[in-house]
Amino acid sequence: MKKPSITLLSLVANFLCATCAQSSFKSISIPPTISNTTSVAQFISDSSFDGPKVTNINSSSYDWWYFDAVSLDSNYSIVAVFYASPSTSFIGAESATDILEVQIRVQTPEEDVFFAVDSPSATAGKLTLDGNDITGDWEGTGSRFLGRDLTCYNVTFDSDAAEELGISGFISMTSIAPPHYPCSPAKEGVNMELFPHVGWANAVPDAETIIELNINGTSVSFTGSGYHDKNWGDVAFDHAVTSWYWGHGRVGPYSLVWFDGISSNGTEYTSGYLSEKGKILGTTCGSTVQVRPINATYPPGLGSDPDGFNITIDLGGGKVFEAIASGDHVLLNEEGAYMRWSGSISGGFRENEETYTGSSVFEQFTF
Ligand SMILES: *[C@@H]1O[C@H](CO)[C@@H](O)[C@H](O)[C@H]1NC(C)=O
Ligand SMILES: *[C@@H]1O[C@H](CO)[C@@H](O)[C@H](O)[C@H]1NC(C)=O
Ligand SMILES: *[C@@H]1O[C@H](CO)[C@@H](O)[C@H](O)[C@H]1NC(C)=O
Ligand SMILES: *[C@@H]1O[C@H](CO)[C@@H](O)[C@H](O)[C@H]1NC(C)=O
Ligand SMILES: *[C@@H]1O[C@H](CO)[C@@H](O)[C@H](O)[C@H]1NC(C)=O
Ligand SMILES: *[C@@H]1O[C@H](CO)[C@@H](O)[C@H](O)[C@H]1NC(C)=O
Ligand SMILES: *[C@@H]1O[C@H](CO)[C@@H](O)[C@H](O)[C@H]1NC(C)=O
Ligand SMILES: *[C@@H]1O[C@H](CO)[C@@H](O)[C@H](O)[C@H]1NC(C)=O
Repeated sequence: MKKPSITLLSLVANFLCATCAQSSFKSISIPPTISNTTSVAQFISDSSFDGPKVTNINSSSYDWWYFDAVSLDSNYSIVAVFYASPSTSFIGAESATDILEVQIRVQTPEEDVFFAVDSPSATAGKLTLDGNDITGDWEGTGSRFLGRDLTCYNVTFDSDAAEELGISGFISMTSIAPPHYPCSPAKEGVNMELFPHVGWANAVPDAETIIELNINGTSVSFTGSGYHDKNWGDVAFDHAVTSWYWGHGRVGPYSLVWFDGISSNGTEYTSGYLSEKGKILGTTCGSTVQVRPINATYPPGLGSDPDGFNITIDLGGGKVFEAIASGDHVLLNEEGAYMRWSGSISGGFRENEETYTGSSVFEQFTF
């Protein structure tokens, strides 16, 4: 009579252990001020695609979660960035000591910069991770994000929770393009460095996106192409980077993401991604990808102001994708060191006759 019950108990124990081992639930709280200790950044991928990649954000490290969306006529856009970064690590951050803020910019047909806010400092950056599900709550800012399985993301703003935010509503994305790292699809054990000391994980290269906002009593709603990635590093961004071109676009049936930058020692690094109907056609880096400014010199100098970018990705097998992104709307211009645009994009495979059009968000850093 005893034997079966022992067997049963050990079965139950085994089952419980298996359940425990499978559950990867983790709760992380990023403190609101910089750490005085050494930061540790992770650059080889593990099973957590969108989780934090730096422990101890100190005066030379950073970690951030970036979201944007642009309407297909590029008359509307929104960019929202959840920072864990002091201004000493990343020039776009506001404070040298308080690392947690959310920056939001909205473009409408009336104005390229219709709304711009730096949220109040958060009291904590509360993250929960469970497999590839993630929540991020920058407490006290009225801003959070919730992601399910790298597929659906909802970024929400609530000015009832923080009046200074001045914006309420959401960005709701359903991904149509699989995630990737600089040189490969999402998998464990691969390099996540775009550059020495700069990491990149692109959870959502393109998404069907619904945006509903209330800005000071004005309602702003649109649909379009959404995007989400994260960057991090363990050396001040402007010490690692000399120049940087990045962008993404929806070009007809294709989802395109590009990167081409020069590191602090003068070496060029690139990354190119193309997908169609939920399948990756190519995710490559190195000499197969080239991005060059239009109507501006390359390499870029401080204050360089191109009209757009020419993106070329060689996917192998004689398939070369080319696109031109046009800087129709200037969304941000930081003293020549940083520019962000939205605009139309057109392109297609070089060997095909057909060209497609769509919309795009892209940026340039020059130091
Ligand atoms: C960090 O160092 C500064 C100056 O060295 C000190 O004032 C501050 O209290 C330290 N902060 C922590 C969290 O230890
Ligand atoms: C921050 O961490 C880096 C390593 O990632 C280290 O080199 C640097 O000295 C640290 N800075 C401070 C102020 O502790
Ligand atoms: C969107 O922009 C195009 C030109 O870029 C313009 O012709 C059109 O009227 C705009 N649409 C709206 C709704 O403002
Ligand atoms: C919203 O209101 C704030 C405070 O009154 C003002 O500073 C800001 O310019 C307004 N924004 C828009 C887009 O109207
Ligand atoms: C996103 O969040 C907002 C605000 O909480 C909610 O109204 C909306 O239904 C959510 N969307 C999705 C797809 O969950
Ligand atoms: C620049 O740094 C990279 C990575 O450390 C190295 O492979 C490359 O040889 C360096 N290039 C020059 C010109 O020093
Ligand atoms: C580059 O400049 C030429 C000449 O001014 C102009 O015709 C062309 O439209 C510009 N290219 C872009 C992408 O704006
Ligand atoms: C874009 O770059 C490719 C490759 O360098 C070149 O063949 C093409 O002519 C360029 N297109 C434009 C419009 O500048």
